[in-house]
Amino acid sequence: MSDKPLNDDIYWGLEKTSRLPGFHSLPIGERAQATGLFAKLDQEDLAVIQSFGAISKELTDTFIENAVGTFSLPLGIATNFLINGKDYLVPMAVEESSVVAAASHGAKFARAGGGFKCSSTDPIMTGQLQLKLEHMSWDYKAEINELLFSAKPDLIEFANRGLERLIERGGGVKDIEWRALPELDQIIIHISIDTRDAMGANIVNTVCEKLAKVIGKLLPGVETGLRILTNLTIHRRARAECIIPACAFERPEYRGEQVTKGIREAWLFAKHDIYRATTNNKGVMNGIDPVVIATGNDWRATEAGCHAWAARNGSYEPLAEWSLDSNQNLKGVLEVPMAVGTVGGVTRLHPTARASLKILGFPNAKELSEIIVAVGLAQNLSALRALACEGIQKGHMDLHSKNLQLLRKNHI
Ligand code: MEV
Repeated sequence: MSDKPLNDDIYWGLEKTSRLPGFHSLPIGERAQATGLFAKLDQEDLAVIQSFGAISKELTDTFIENAVGTFSLPLGIATNFLINGKDYLVPMAVEESSVVAAASHGAKFARAGGGFKCSSTDPIMTGQLQLKLEHMSWDYKAEINELLFSAKPDLIEFANRGLERLIERGGGVKDIEWRALPELDQIIIHISIDTRDAMGANIVNTVCEKLAKVIGKLLPGVETGLRILTNLTIHRRARAECIIPACAFERPEYRGEQVTKGIREAWLFAKHDIYRATTNNKGVMNGIDPVVIATGNDWRATEAGCHAWAARNGSYEPLAEWSLDSNQNLKGVLEVPMAVGTVGGVTRLHPTARASLKILGFPNAKELSEIIVAVGLAQNLSALRALACEGIQKGHMDLHSKNLQLLRKNHI
């Protein structure tokens, strides 16, 4: 690690901004120092992020079964993010060259239009409980509906028992609904639980299993089936929006309006072609996953949720939308399910995840979800702009060449 002192003057003055020209050309230790200055990291935090992925043998053995070692990913910092008027340096854990640069580049364009405006729903997770009605009479099926309606307040009250600490913080079971699954002759109960700053998978699954027992007694003869959360968290979504003037894209080789039109056309291609939509969304996830991973969250859950959301209208579509307003400004919107936590799981136990949350200013779960979708939108913008202009290989290969050199050096 660089042993330079933490001194604001040697970097970008006292203004707290994520706009850090020249950051990428600093040596790695100085980048860490500059990040430390921005986020008020102490030497211990810096030692963690510059330990190059080491987690203790004890933590490794606690996190998973049959552990034999660790697998490290580079942790990079995306610059230029202005979200709801606040500057963020965003930690991203990812192995693919050009991803962090593309996120920073996209955020720089968004900054020209005032940055990202983000919002999110309450952190409502959904649990599913399957009721099997095969061989039940029509009369009994109608009665089940009635029984569930009249028991609903008691079921919510029962489900909330034991969740007093969550309820004190504004969370808890908020609603119980159900829908028919006629193909299987089943009723599926959906339990809405506000899990506050936790991602909440364990809370939801525990409540589902607990409710299954009482619902089994309430409805004699009905077999209860699976009891598990859904990762399609339609009530836990985050949204990012940016409006960028065409002139921000002006280059000697391209007129600004040519670029914004090209981005819109690239989006239309994805809107009408599933093959392109898949790659387009891979680009969005290039932004989302690395922040989810850096903060110790479950990226398989967010991946599953986002892709299911992309297919919610019956065809698989691009996750973000790009359009032109009447002044030919480019408008981008990304709204997706985003179930991430800032407490629980490994978020505070994994030292790098904790340091990442500190770099972000210890956001709550809602704020973190908004940061994540802003990065997804920035990433998509960057990819579409490059594809509509010079193509992605130029930037990609420049950055990838370091990998190739290393391969050659090691005769791989
Ligand atoms: C590469 O990792 C991601 C892109 O293919 C995304 C896209 O095509 O939109 C560049």
